[in-house]
Formats: sequence, C-alpha cells, structure tokens
Amino acid sequence: MKKLLTATLALGLLGAFTLPAQATPQEDLEKFQSYYYKRFPNTPKGDFINGVYSIDAASRAQWEEIEEFPPYELSIDKGKKLFNTPFKNGKTYASCFENDGIGIAHRYPFFDTNAGEVITLELAINTCREANGEKPLKYKKGAIADISAYMKYTSRGETINIVIPDDPRALAAYERGKKNFYAKRGQMNVSCADCHIHNAGNMIRADLLGPGLGQPTHFPVYRSKWGGMGTLQRRYTGCNKQVRAKPYKAQSPEYRALEYFHTYMSNGLESNGPGARK
Ligand code: HEC
Repeated sequence: MKKLLTATLALGLLGAFTLPAQATPQEDLEKFQSYYYKRFPNTPKGDFINGVYSIDAASRAQWEEIEEFPPYELSIDKGKKLFNTPFKNGKTYASCFENDGIGIAHRYPFFDTNAGEVITLELAINTCREANGEKPLKYKKGAIADISAYMKYTSRGETINIVIPDDPRALAAYERGKKNFYAKRGQMNVSCADCHIHNAGNMIRADLLGPGLGQPTHFPVYRSKWGGMGTLQRRYTGCNKQVRAKPYKAQSPEYRALEYFHTYMSNGLESNGPGARK
C-alpha cells in the first residue's frame, strides 16, 4: 500500500492541472473538460459518462456483458414501487416534485435560492418524506438508492445542465465543493484531483483510475464490491476512506457542495444512471 501511495503522490506532483481559484465556474468547466479530451483523445466526448470504461477497452467488454442483464434492474423496480406507494397521508413522492418526479432527476443537485443551500436528489427524497409525516430514510444505500435509481432511470438521455444561479451563496457552495475536490487529505495526503485528474488512466494497485469527468452521471450504481446499490455520496465516503481520511457525513453541507461542483463539471453530458460497477 505504502509504495503505491508514494507512487501516486509522485505522479500527482507531475500533474500541473489545477483550476485557478478566481476563475468563473464556466471557465473551470471548459478547462476541466478539455483536459480529459486531450488526455484521452480516443474517447468520444459523450462517452465519459461511462466512467473508467470510457478509457479501458478490456474492462469495457466485461462491463458491456454485465449491462446485458443489468444488476440494478431490480433496484429500479423496487424504487418504482416505493415511489408509487402512498404515504400514510395518502400522498406519494410525486406530489413533492416537478412533473410528478418523472424525467427531472438529472437536474439535481441544484442550488435552492430560497433555502440558501444545495439540494441533492436524496435530500429532496427525504425532505418529501418528512413533509408528509414519514421518517427519513438512511442515506447511501437501501430504499433511498432504489428510489433514486428509479428517478434517474426516468431521466436517462437528458442532458446535465447544473446551474449556478446569480447568488453569492450558490457560488460559495460551488467554490467549497471545488476546494474539497482539490484538497489533499488523509494519511496519504492525496486529493480527488490527484487520483481522478492527474492520474486518470494510471493504475493504483489493481485498479485503473477513472476520469473525474462523467463520474456523477451514472449514479446511483450497483457495485459488485458492495453487493448492492449505493449513492454518489456512498462512493465519496469510500474514496475518502481509501486514503485514510475521515469521510464527511452523507448529505452534510460539505458533500453536497462537492456533489454540486462535481456534477457541474459534467455539464453537457448525458444523464445515464443508474449504473453497474465492479
Ligand atoms: C487514492 C486514489 C483515489 C482518491 C484520492 C479518490 N478516489 Fe475516487 N476512485 C478511486 C478508484 C480506484 C476508483 C474505482 C475506479 C474508477 O472508477 O475510477 C474510484 C471511483 C470513484 C467514483 C466512482 C466512479 C464510477 O464510475 O463509478 C467516484 C464518483 C469517485 N471515485 C469520486 C471521488 C471523489 C469525489 C474523491 C475525493 C473526495 C475521490 N474519488 C478520491 C480512487 C480514488
């Protein structure tokens, strides 16, 4: 492990890519995306939505086989059923969302200028439950991932276009997420950017590091390692732990800001959740 960390760090130091602190989100976006287009010239731009499989033919073939009988299908079915099952007050989730919750999941996370905070899909699901007198679900896996999987499924093919409204609080949330993405942390002292920008396409132990572009598009995912579904923030937790850093709480302001920045960086790509990963 230690050897690899050193290797990662050394490689990380070679990467000159950082987003300038004072750039606008739009400038950040162009720089972020064009970096990957240059680094992986053989990957069609729209294909980054497939994560690590967009840059690795060998694992892609295996993955395509898995996708023939997608392991998340059961989760979509369960999510659909939960979504349509009335709360004790007779209402359903549909009552909380625009267009009854169909084909709108790709708009999350968004900055709610009334509440002054980033609202992720999972947060909105629980807010809906609480508004209807139901207990919130646990974040990261289980029923919430199923409902999220179903809602994302109805958004497949839509284009991600996260907006930073003209509100200093929205920009602050974006900047907070950006800072998190580039912050070195844990005993290994590495950032998300070290692995998913500077070392995208390189190996860390037995794993090929996927590009940071297009990561949020296919969540939630069924992961073989988990033996089940997980949300994007479940994955954040895992990636933090990998470098022996203390993860933040799921749906904490910190992770919501990270998800906001991270998803904004995938603007223009297709929403293709839920997904399957090893
Ligand atoms: C030590 C290296 C390392 C660091 C640091 C790291 N990750 Fe990862 N991450 C991985 C590996 C390895 C995988 C699995 C291969 C892949 O999909 O890239 C992964 C996968 C992911 C995935 C799933 C991608 C998919 O398509 O399913 C997301 C999302 C992700 N990381 C986000 C982050 C974020 C955000 C951070 C910072 C909080 C971070 N990672 C930090 C190594 C790292």
